Amino acid sequence: MLNDKIKREYAYWSDLYASSAEKWFEEQVTKTELTTYFRREFNRAENMLHQQLNHPARVLIIGAGMGALSAWCSGNYPEWEIVSTDLITKGLSAHRTVARLMGYQYESHLVVSNWDLLPFKDGSFDLCFADRCLHHMDDPIKSLSSIAKSIRPGGVLIALREPTIAIAHPETKRKFGEEARKAGANEHIWYLNEWRHFFTKAGFRLKVRIHLEDCFRFYRGWGPRVPGIRKLLRLFPLVVTERLLFPYVWYYGSTNISKFTFYAVRE
Ligand SMILES: C[S@@+](CC[C@H](N)C(=O)[O-])C[C@H]1O[C@@H](n2cnc3c(N)ncnc32)[C@H](O)[C@@H]1O
Repeated sequence: MLNDKIKREYAYWSDLYASSAEKWFEEQVTKTELTTYFRREFNRAENMLHQQLNHPARVLIIGAGMGALSAWCSGNYPEWEIVSTDLITKGLSAHRTVARLMGYQYESHLVVSNWDLLPFKDGSFDLCFADRCLHHMDDPIKSLSSIAKSIRPGGVLIALREPTIAIAHPETKRKFGEEARKAGANEHIWYLNEWRHFFTKAGFRLKVRIHLEDCFRFYRGWGPRVPGIRKLLRLFPLVVTERLLFPYVWYYGSTNISKFTFYAVRE
């Protein structure tokens, strides 16, 4: 049974996805941006995945939305057995169209499910992907624990593009997602130490990857176009975020939000 809060969220995302997949695709993304992005994130995780993945892998995608990541996985790893889940049927029903627009063959089981109550046997998956969705969890420990149960011990959760505040900025935390919350959706932002706590409590060992060049790429369109900047940035082994380096710089109209990729190994 979906509770009222979840139903409100369901309604919010349904409205968002009411436009056609073609329109969404044209206006919001390009195939190249997406495929380059997923490929880079996946390559970064690959060393860890090589040690931990079975082949062929059983892969769960939660909060799959319109299915761009599912399409990418399906197109690039036809040997994977992929299950894509979301609360929203409308999003799931757009998956095949999005895959076609990205030029991929699509093979994924689609399951409508709340991530708090995933209907899979314990340890069913080797790998779980979540793209831009963990911050919609009201109770991250509960939701991450449900995901952890579905992943086998030693399996991996890769969570892409999670907004995170690197240093204490309560005002940013309060304001983040205000509009969406008014419309009924759940939007949260957490400090890195809060994320660590959630993952640990849910039974994951967390590795956070912080890439300064990404901060430039995503938060300032001009970053990668400055000649030599990537080379320069690689010279610095980064153990702190750009927020620690430049805590008061104004990024993209909002202060102190970074997007992290989390690689979490199921204990
Ligand atoms: C910001 S969208 C991201 C969609 C897609 N991953 C992407 O990157 O385009 C967040 C997704 O989480 C889903 N979602 C929110 N709450 C959920 C829940 N409790 N259980 C399952 N999915 C949920 C929404 O329906 C939505 O598709």
